[in-house]
Amino acid sequence: MSKKRDFTSVTDLSPAETRRLVQRAADGKAAAGPPGRAAPLAGKSVALLFEKPSLRTKVSFQVGVAQLGGYSLYLGGEEVGLGAREPISDVARVLSGYVDCIVARVFSHRHLEELARYASVPVINALSDWEHPCQIMADLLTVYEHKGGLDGLTLAYIGDGNNVARSLCLALPAVGMSFHCASPDGYELDAASVAAAEARGGRTRIMRSPSEAVADADVVYTDVWASMGQETEAAQRRQQFAGYTVDPALMAQARPGALFMHDMPAHYGEEVPPGMLEHPQSVAYPQAHNRLHAQKALLEFLLNDT
Ligand code: CP
Repeated sequence: MSKKRDFTSVTDLSPAETRRLVQRAADGKAAAGPPGRAAPLAGKSVALLFEKPSLRTKVSFQVGVAQLGGYSLYLGGEEVGLGAREPISDVARVLSGYVDCIVARVFSHRHLEELARYASVPVINALSDWEHPCQIMADLLTVYEHKGGLDGLTLAYIGDGNNVARSLCLALPAVGMSFHCASPDGYELDAASVAAAEARGGRTRIMRSPSEAVADADVVYTDVWASMGQETEAAQRRQQFAGYTVDPALMAQARPGALFMHDMPAHYGEEVPPGMLEHPQSVAYPQAHNRLHAQKALLEFLLNDT
């Protein structure tokens, strides 16, 4: 039996696997189901273990598992008490005897890695404080669909150097895309992640000016200024991120036909003005819908191919 594969980071996939999964997701979406097999997850169970709230990730995984013929069960953080009610290693070992895959949304990426270390079934990162790899697979699918390819494009990310920015930075080299990241002083993406992306062949530029970052961008991407768990910093961040709002005026400085992307939920009046997700260049809603298709391809890959 082959060793189980986890997806805790975008770097858990090789560049070739990343490109194949984007294509597979596009094919599966076009076929209104996975190509070849009607129910690739028949008889398989997936636990969704979420320490934080979710709309897109929770619903798209539950619906995706059902569409693939499998069964999912949702476990809220408080009922499991990962690392509090019992050790993470015990949660991992026990769940591995019931289900074929664990999809986990956690506060601490270290907890996710511990879960993956002790689980004998694949563990998928549904968001941690360090990465949001499932989001980025849907993002790649969205750019691929709307631009007709990925290689040679530039994505400009405006805002906090957070988990989404990090996963973008680490994933884009796999598909030949360049990454510009414009953040206020003190909120830049960490140097180690940029170095890791460079080691994967990445073309990354860390910048201060949003105008400079979007100047030759094919995609302009933003995220909330204060993520879940950073609510106490929200007021301070609103001041420090002034000037980092992505609005129609900033979009006009990007390449003609540039896409606007947001992983949602949006904080209107902060990183975007009201109505920005309905901007003619916005693909934020198809981007959210693509979570379903990208994750179906990922589940089939992890549970059937590896
Ligand atoms: N983008 C995203 O992960 O959305 P949810 O927090 O609603 O799952």
